[in-house]
Amino acid sequence: MFMNLKLIVLFAMTIANSFRICAQEVLPAYLDESFPTEERIENALSLMTLEEKIAICHAQSKFSAPGCPRLGIPELWMSDGPHGVRVEFKWDSWEHAGWTNDSCTAFPALTCLAATFNTELSYRYGNALGEGARFRKKDMILGPGVNIYRTPLSGRNFEYMGEDPYLSSTMVVPYIKGVQKNGVSACVKHFALNNQEKWRNDINVVVSDRALNEIYLPAFKAAVQEGNVWSVMGSYNKFKGTYCSHNDTLINQILKNEWGFDGVMVTDWGSAHDTDEAARNGLDLEMGTWTNGLTWGISSAYNDYYLAQPFLDKIRKGELSEALLDEKVRRILRLYYRTGMNRNRPYGRFKAPEHYEVARTVAEEGIVLMKNENHFFPIPAGRYGKIAVIGENAVKRLSEGGGSSELKPHIEISPLQGIVNKYGAENVVYSMGYASGAPSYNEILPSPYDADSLLNAAVSVAKSADVVLYFGGLNKNNSEDCEGDDRKSMNLSFGQDKLIEELLKVNKNTGIILISGNAVAMPWVDKVQGLMQGWYLGSMAGEALANVISGGVNPSGKLPFSFPKKLEDNSAHYFGEKSYPGDGINQYYLDDILVGYRWHEKKNILPLFAFGHGLSYTTFKYGKPVADKKDYHVGDKINVSFTISNTGDMDGAEAVQIYVEQKNPSVLRPVKELKAFKKIFLKRGETQTINMALDSNKFAFYDEVNKKWVLEPDKYVIYLASASDDIRGKTTIEIIK
Ligand code: BGC
Repeated sequence: MFMNLKLIVLFAMTIANSFRICAQEVLPAYLDESFPTEERIENALSLMTLEEKIAICHAQSKFSAPGCPRLGIPELWMSDGPHGVRVEFKWDSWEHAGWTNDSCTAFPALTCLAATFNTELSYRYGNALGEGARFRKKDMILGPGVNIYRTPLSGRNFEYMGEDPYLSSTMVVPYIKGVQKNGVSACVKHFALNNQEKWRNDINVVVSDRALNEIYLPAFKAAVQEGNVWSVMGSYNKFKGTYCSHNDTLINQILKNEWGFDGVMVTDWGSAHDTDEAARNGLDLEMGTWTNGLTWGISSAYNDYYLAQPFLDKIRKGELSEALLDEKVRRILRLYYRTGMNRNRPYGRFKAPEHYEVARTVAEEGIVLMKNENHFFPIPAGRYGKIAVIGENAVKRLSEGGGSSELKPHIEISPLQGIVNKYGAENVVYSMGYASGAPSYNEILPSPYDADSLLNAAVSVAKSADVVLYFGGLNKNNSEDCEGDDRKSMNLSFGQDKLIEELLKVNKNTGIILISGNAVAMPWVDKVQGLMQGWYLGSMAGEALANVISGGVNPSGKLPFSFPKKLEDNSAHYFGEKSYPGDGINQYYLDDILVGYRWHEKKNILPLFAFGHGLSYTTFKYGKPVADKKDYHVGDKINVSFTISNTGDMDGAEAVQIYVEQKNPSVLRPVKELKAFKKIFLKRGETQTINMALDSNKFAFYDEVNKKWVLEPDKYVIYLASASDDIRGKTTIEIIK
């Protein structure tokens, strides 16, 4: 009996095992993880019908693509980006879906992240965002944005990483790695030359190959080659007369062939315009057609997209080859295997305490102390009796508005709340001072308040206070820091300049905290003792600002772009309308490679605040930089060492910058260019010896004639600096053949 039972069990096990083997045998390769991904892709491709392959190349809703339901290939879900996970939208409209579980942690805007000069923080930012995206079941985050800051008027500068290609290239890579670690694709945008919002939908950018390669492309290249980004978003504008989202030069030649990008080229929402070009010129995934991003749209037009029925018809007629489609599908499937079909990706988490901690730390490290006469800052609790907080930005929810980067933050601590929490409600009095009206994407909704009454009320509050903290700047309204159009001038709007002048008349003890993603004109700057750049700081804005203002945190941010004294001092504007905003059809980048500080330095036009500028509550003393050799061969690493000491009486951090100048170039070169940076934390009294490795390949310029990068044997000066206009030491090395 016992024997029989054993036999029965054995028999049953054998049957079960053989079923399992059967099951394994019938598992098609595209579902079988033991096959290499490329084989799985080929298998899936071979099983898909022509119609299914067409379907996977374009949207099925505002933010999703359909996958292949018959084969169990999941849908692809996307979300903006780049400062948090955006709210849910209705299937086919720009209306918010009204979910109650989609409020997020708002991280500081990318200008602030760039201002931290801290690559490790960029990784933590990306990872926290990726975790949130994963939890919200997103496969792709539409960001980061790395278009170069060319003009202070561009409405979207706040979403980007500043004017310097080295800074943005270096900061973008860890962000991407952090996001993608979660099995969520980053989508670096907007490729390329989308450096202004005005006329962004059609303007044709005329730029030299040199400026393209040296200034406008490096961050994208780093995203692809160092960050291994899985998707890239095209821009709305044109280059060489063709829309960038299906542009042969940019996508086929540069992105895919030269850089070896193996991911998916996605349109911006509504940036595809032609089936043949989309099919041939490297576009893989079409989204948002017949919208200009955030506004108008034809409803349920998905089947009419350029890469939908019209593409299918052309393939059937033999006008376009199926091989073009297969190439797109391969890339899209590769993206699916990296994201939704990666069974090992983590589950993510959302609004975790660690995410708020990242948001606060980025904010604190990004705030820039621009001016600090007579130790205006810090203001420790108890120093003053009555603190007047003035300005609409002290209370405005600034993670909202601004276009596609809008967020619905679960928590947003306003500057006023932060100040009240820090100093006690009994010591703080608030007055709005000015009013901007409600945020809107394509119109200005005027404020219902009377401007004079607001000003008078603020002045009387300021008069009776011991210290005034003014929170103004820009906001996310249309024509301020907002997608879709540019600012009309560099001046502050809503009568703020007048208001600040009036406040200064009645109370000299006034500090200004600018909340913006752009440089602004400051006619009152000489009269102000304390000035901070506060960016858009997200959920923890008020807490971070109060920590820095009170001295709990020592500021260490550095400006990622120059603040010109006036608009005409900026490179794009110096050349007049042809250069900015263009004639409506073309725009000529006449400033060429001399963008930002490269322009100010070459032309000897002093900025109001220079690139890399940022003060601290402590002081740093730099030792002399020493290179490990005198002569180097092309391509060598150059190791530079130096000491740095915190000579003040507070712990602090310094973003050390290394700029390089070529002594006798055969072509025009900037006076110097950023080639390395490092954020160094030093306790008070502490000295550290720092080694920084410079990649000599990065000293090269782009030779337009021979279409290649050239590093000329020559002498190169290595500047050790606290800011582009604050050199602390130098050493000269030679590169020999
Ligand atoms: C923006 C993109 C954004 C997309 C989807 C477009 O208007 O330019 O940056 O990702 O909309 O919202």
